[in-house]
Formats: sequence, C-alpha cells, structure tokens
Amino acid sequence: MAVRRILRMGHPHLRQRAFEVEDAFLGTEAFDRLLNDMEDTLHDYGGIGLAAPQIGEGLRLAIIELPGGPTRYGEIEAVPLTVFVNPVIETLEGSTAGYWEGCLSVPGLRGFVERPQHVLVRYTDTEGTAQQLELEGFPATVVQHEFDHLDGVLYIDRITDTRRLAFEDEFGRYIANA
Ligand code: NI
Repeated sequence: MAVRRILRMGHPHLRQRAFEVEDAFLGTEAFDRLLNDMEDTLHDYGGIGLAAPQIGEGLRLAIIELPGGPTRYGEIEAVPLTVFVNPVIETLEGSTAGYWEGCLSVPGLRGFVERPQHVLVRYTDTEGTAQQLELEGFPATVVQHEFDHLDGVLYIDRITDTRRLAFEDEFGRYIANA
C-alpha cells in the first residue's frame, strides 16, 4: 500500500485533460497498484472522492466513497467505494442545488457551487464491463466534482459568487452554523 501525495492547486497537472484508460491496462499489476494507491490516499486524507490526476496520473479514472450519515457535508446518503473508468456524465434534469464543496487539491477552503442534481453516469468498471449509475442530490454533485478533475477543472472555477468562498475554520464558525 502507498499513500501518494495529492497535488495542490497551482500544479499544472491539475489543469490538463486526462487520457482515456485503455482496456488493455485494466487488470494489469500497474492498474491494480494505481487503484490501491488511490484508495489508500483517499482514506489517509479522509476524502470522499479522488481523481487520478490529483496524484499526478493523467488518466480518466476516479473513485468515490460516501460514508453516509452525518458528515461535514450534512446528512448524506451512503455510496460504497466505486471505481469509475472513463466516466461520461449526462444531466437528466436541469434542476440545480448548491453545496459548499471542498477539495483535497484546494486544502483549507470551502466554496459554494451549484450543479445539476439528477445525472446518469456511464462508465467502465475494473473488469472492463460497461456500467451505468443514476444519482440524485449530493452524490450527483460529488461525481461532477470528481469528473471535472479529469478535464482539468477545479470547483473554484465554478463558483459564481466569490463571496461564497471561505476558509474551513471560518466556514464552520460563521456559515455552517448560521
Ligand atoms: Ni476535488
């Protein structure tokens, strides 16, 4: 196992479009090692999602794991650890909602971002099988945030009102409990 260093905002790799994962890479030792590293890193940093470019691997690969119950994002629905290879997202319904997002590549900050709340994700699993997953609410926001990383986009790019960008301490003190 290996916990990898997460690249932070300003590192150019976070701004590049990641490459498609080729079928032949699935199931290889290198693929399994990368996936294990991503899981170890996610757990070590205490995150809910991680995209490969965040550890400097320019591949369209992301993992998500929502613990469910009360979290720093409020009461959320559990999503077991899911690996998304070459995900494509489709908005099923235009209604949006906003959350105060955070990002392991933008440590110490929270910012309010509105996104569609009903999406369909088409992706390949670790076995190379095509899958789809329909998500609503906060999990829909999480996948959009993670998949943005595959296109070199950070959540702060999507903040429309920069007055709603705050340090975590101040967020907890003045905003979350307001
Ligand atoms: Ni992020």
